[in-house]
Amino acid sequence: MRTALPTPSQSRPQSPSRSASPSSTGLGFTLRRAGVADLPELWRAYWDSEHGPRVKMPDIPVPPIFRHELETGHVWVAEGAAGVIGFTARVTRGDVTYLAELFVRQGHQSTGVGRALLKRVMAGRNRGIRCAMSSRDPRALSLYIQSGMLPRWPSFQLHAASPRLEALPGSDVRVIEADPADSRAMKDLVLWDAHIGGRQRPQDLAYWLRVGGHPLWLTRRGKTVGYAFMNTRREGRGGAGLAILGPIGSATLKDSAACVGAACRWAWAHGDELYLAVPGPHPALRPLLAAGFQITDLETFVSSSDRPFADPRRYITSGGPEGSSLY
Ligand SMILES: CC(C)(COP(=O)(O)OP(=O)(O)OC[C@H]1O[C@@H](n2cnc3c(N)ncnc32)[C@H](O)[C@@H]1OP(=O)(O)O)[C@@H](O)C(=O)NCCC(=O)NCCS
Repeated sequence: MRTALPTPSQSRPQSPSRSASPSSTGLGFTLRRAGVADLPELWRAYWDSEHGPRVKMPDIPVPPIFRHELETGHVWVAEGAAGVIGFTARVTRGDVTYLAELFVRQGHQSTGVGRALLKRVMAGRNRGIRCAMSSRDPRALSLYIQSGMLPRWPSFQLHAASPRLEALPGSDVRVIEADPADSRAMKDLVLWDAHIGGRQRPQDLAYWLRVGGHPLWLTRRGKTVGYAFMNTRREGRGGAGLAILGPIGSATLKDSAACVGAACRWAWAHGDELYLAVPGPHPALRPLLAAGFQITDLETFVSSSDRPFADPRRYITSGGPEGSSLY
């Protein structure tokens, strides 16, 4: 669970969200709901948590995903004497609550901030499914498991700079770009995503479109067999063009690997490097590795339920080089 680096957001700033009154934890920090004014601090806290204070932050705007989480979810900050020391976010879609962020500044880690944030953001979410994509940090895994979200499967962060695409299945699957202005097609996409991804989440699909995502239909002999999203961004000035795939869903298990193979071939025409995050049980994992994809990181899907709301053999999460943000 990492955040996607920014692509320009066209969404307009909203007024600060309702901030619940701060609650003291008795541990030298308080917890409160975040507002729009906190966004730059969230970005700084995220950067510090991942890289420490010595690595200079890139001079880029706050990742739009933070604002999306603020506008459509619940974001809490932990505040110490010198400002924000950690933050967390959850997004609830139907009966599935996904923990989208949990980050504590390096100088404040291992002092109970993460535990307090997790407890606060998940308060009252005992009914329905609670889940997260855990980083490899043992503290994150420990907190999630202790809170009842148990490890279900590994998720492989994959990257390819020169894949052998001919080795991938799905050469008979055609990729058709859907028109974001076609409201009927977008409604169909929401239904497909809800059916395969296990949650109605038109707000997330709208977000992916807003940040420049390409909605794709995967078809065979005129019949739709799956859907996908692809995002592109350029890494630094004159850097490589990244094509980031996900979510990708297929209607049947039999077409699952073919859908991913076809989406990869299509995405390769739009970037110099490919990224996607593939669940361990997904049939595409083996051919992707055989085609030269490299494992860059491993996350763990944790959930309070042993019943997957989305079949990890037919559904690939939204992701990117930094990990999965909205699942
Ligand atoms: C993961 C993170 C958010 C946790 O927050 P934190 O404030 O450091 O954690 P806390 O001090 O509240 O709790 C850590 C828990 O892990 C436990 N822990 C630490 N090392 C452990 C290990 N090797 N094995 C098992 N448990 C361990 C601690 O004992 C503590 O549990 P306790 O409260 O029962 O004693 C924070 O360390 C962080 O920002 N890490 C880097 C970013 C990251 O990976 N975020 C997670 C994204 S999914």
